[in-house]
Amino acid sequence: MISLEINGKGYEVDVNSEVPILWVIREHLQLTGTKYGCGVGLCGSCTILIDGRAQRSCQIPVHETAGRRITTVEGLPADHLVKRAWIEEQVPQCGYCQPGQIMQAVALLSEDSSPDEEKILAAMDGILCRCGTYPRIKRAIRRALKEVGRG
Ligand code: FES
Ligand code: FES
Repeated sequence: MISLEINGKGYEVDVNSEVPILWVIREHLQLTGTKYGCGVGLCGSCTILIDGRAQRSCQIPVHETAGRRITTVEGLPADHLVKRAWIEEQVPQCGYCQPGQIMQAVALLSEDSSPDEEKILAAMDGILCRCGTYPRIKRAIRRALKEVGRG
């Protein structure tokens, strides 16, 4: 059994300890907001927060996450600053990459109090969007920063 803390809730899971945390979240716990894209750490659609830092969940064996604080997109409150900015800027198109985009943006805003254009682009660079929503993502991040007086 492996003990996990996800979105503030404790879970005991009976899985192979080498299974990526992505599959435990999606298949065992039915938290399907986190998406599977490439499976090799290149697209970012599986991004979650582990101890507040953005990580590619397809690349991390579940045993490495035991006892750490995991947050998925479901763990953000509906009125979270970033979620609201996403809605206000109507960011998603097909939506598939958006949980990863949102989690990466949440990590960026918590790590950097006022990221400039370059830092925003660098932080968001690893999350691919086939629909090309990048300009709206940038606007939403700027909006969120403005709302808290950091932009
Ligand atoms: S599914 Fe994890 S980076 Fe693509
Ligand atoms: S909104 Fe479709 S892949 Fe990003």
